[in-house]
Order: sequence, then C-alpha cells, then structure tokens
Amino acid sequence: NMNVEKFIADKVKDIQQAVGDGMAINALSGGVDSSVVTVLGHRALGKNLKTYFIDNGIMREGEPARVVATFKKMGIPVEVIDASRAFFAALKGVTDPEEKREAITQTFYKKIFGKLVVKSKATYLLQGTILTDVDETVAGIKRQHNVFAQLGIDPQKAFGYKILEPLIELRKDGVRKVGRGLGLPEAVFERMPFPGPALAARVIGEAKPDRIALARKATAIMEKTFKDVDAFQYMAILHEDRVTGMRDNKRVFGNQIEIRCWDSVDARKARPTRLSFDLLESVAKKITKTIPEVVSVTYNITSKPTSTMEAV
Ligand code: XMP
Repeated sequence: NMNVEKFIADKVKDIQQAVGDGMAINALSGGVDSSVVTVLGHRALGKNLKTYFIDNGIMREGEPARVVATFKKMGIPVEVIDASRAFFAALKGVTDPEEKREAITQTFYKKIFGKLVVKSKATYLLQGTILTDVDETVAGIKRQHNVFAQLGIDPQKAFGYKILEPLIELRKDGVRKVGRGLGLPEAVFERMPFPGPALAARVIGEAKPDRIALARKATAIMEKTFKDVDAFQYMAILHEDRVTGMRDNKRVFGNQIEIRCWDSVDARKARPTRLSFDLLESVAKKITKTIPEVVSVTYNITSKPTSTMEAV
C-alpha cells in the first residue's frame, strides 16, 4: 500500500536537490533495480545523468546488446564500457565467496566507476541498492556488492564520489511497483532478479573465463527451457567438484550443474519450486546434450534458510 506517485515525486526532488547543476552517472545492468534507478534518474536530471552498461565479462549471453536496445527504445542512451579484462584480472585465483564479491566490488567502484566519474565530471553515482541487500550484508549473510554506508564505508573517501540510493527503503516487490509507475515496459520491471556479481555468483570456486562460459551456456539453456515457469528466480550453478560420468561408452571425469528454482516474495526466505519432473528431465537432457563438459545435472531441494538463493 505504498503511494507510488508520491514516492516517485519525492525521489525526483531528492535527486535534483543533491546533484544540483552538476553531473551524475549510473551503471545499468538491465536488472529491475538498476533499470528503475536509470529511469528515475533521467526523469530528475535529464542529460546531466550519464548511464553506462559495464560489460564485466560475467553477464549472460547477449545481455549488453539487449539492455542497450531496450533503453534506446525508451529514449535513454546507454554507453557500453568493455571492462571484462579488469574483472577477470581481479577474479584470478580467488575462490572464497566473500573475497570474490569483494574483488567485484573493488573493480566496479574503484577501478571502473572511479574512471567514469572523472571522465564525465560527475560528483554522484546513482545506484539501485535495496533494503534486502542491506539486510543480508549487515546480518553477515552475504556481502552484497553495492552496500557501503551501513558497513561504515564512506564512498567519497573510499572511491572519490558520493552515492545516491533512491530505492534503499524498498524491497523487490516495491521496486516493481515503482517501475510500473514510471512507465517501464513490463518485461523490464517484472524481470527475474539477477545478482550484481552476475555469473560469478553461479560458479563455485575460481570464476575463470572458461568456467564462466560453461555457466553462461547452462544458464541460456535453462532460461529458455524455464521461460514459462512462474517462479521468483531460477538459476544454473557450476560446481567445483567433478563427478565420474560417461560419454561414447568411455569414462569421463566431468562437470556438474545444479539447477535452482525459487518461490519467494522478497528474497528473504525462499522455497524450491515444485517443478514437474518432466521439465527437470528435459533441462538435464538439453544441458548434457549441448555442453559436452557437463555429465550431471541436479536440482536443489533445500529452502532458504539454510540454503541461500545464489551459490556464492
Ligand atoms: P541470496 O543468495 O543472498 O540472494 O539468498 C537473495 C537475492 O539477492 C540477489 N543477490 C544479489 N543482488 N548483489 C545484488 O545486487 C549481490 O551481491 C547479490 N547477491 C545475491 C540474488 O540473486 C537473490 O535474488
């Protein structure tokens, strides 16, 4: 029962007051939160907001082009920054989940946004952090890639610019309402969540380019097969462990993919979706047929808690 019109008007005013005649930037991933911030920010600042898509090399198949095209249709120009080398360099040799998240945070905020702020003469970064991100970080469950103030980190000191977070009071369901209120296409504001650390959150162990490529292929197959499934979120995870399998009647020590599909309202709690066994079998068949390196596919039957939604 939030007043969406008032929320939008208040946030537009807040952004205008903070940035004044200056410049701001924001990074659009195409997800619900960053999409809503992009439209809200452009409503407030017009040409004084520069929107970038950071191609970090760990996004899904065709994602950069798809996101840029969607926003072009809405009259919002998006510049793509090819940053995959910087991200893979930062992820090299990193296997611990929290260290992976930290490497991604540092690369985004220090290396990439730091440069873009200077290039565009901006003083502010607008970003789509939501309440759930803060909760999980403060509770010590997961360090979300976009949370600073609540950890005692001053972005001005740490990175050289200020951060505005107009969605910080909302959870996913609230953000979707604002997206609808802003007139975003339904395909955007109803889109399935996808985490900031992208496919690196779905590769257990080191997120090397070849491992990311495997997770990307499995994700594409899964998303296609599951496109009519009504769930909060579904994902394919590449395990670090290998298992013995067989190809052409020969033993192979292959990779395993774990499928997860979640029913949830706000991502704080979640239950595995009661999928049909036919659907599960069909995704397993497609994955093992299309990706020679994968010999085994499993389905997670654990709730959050004890599981979390992403594997990293
Ligand atoms: P977890 O894995 O914590 O995920 O149960 C809860 C929800 O948050 C998403 N998620 C993230 N989103 N930055 C984000 O923007 C992150 O670092 C991050 N980690 C998880 C996840 O996809 C799920 O919707």
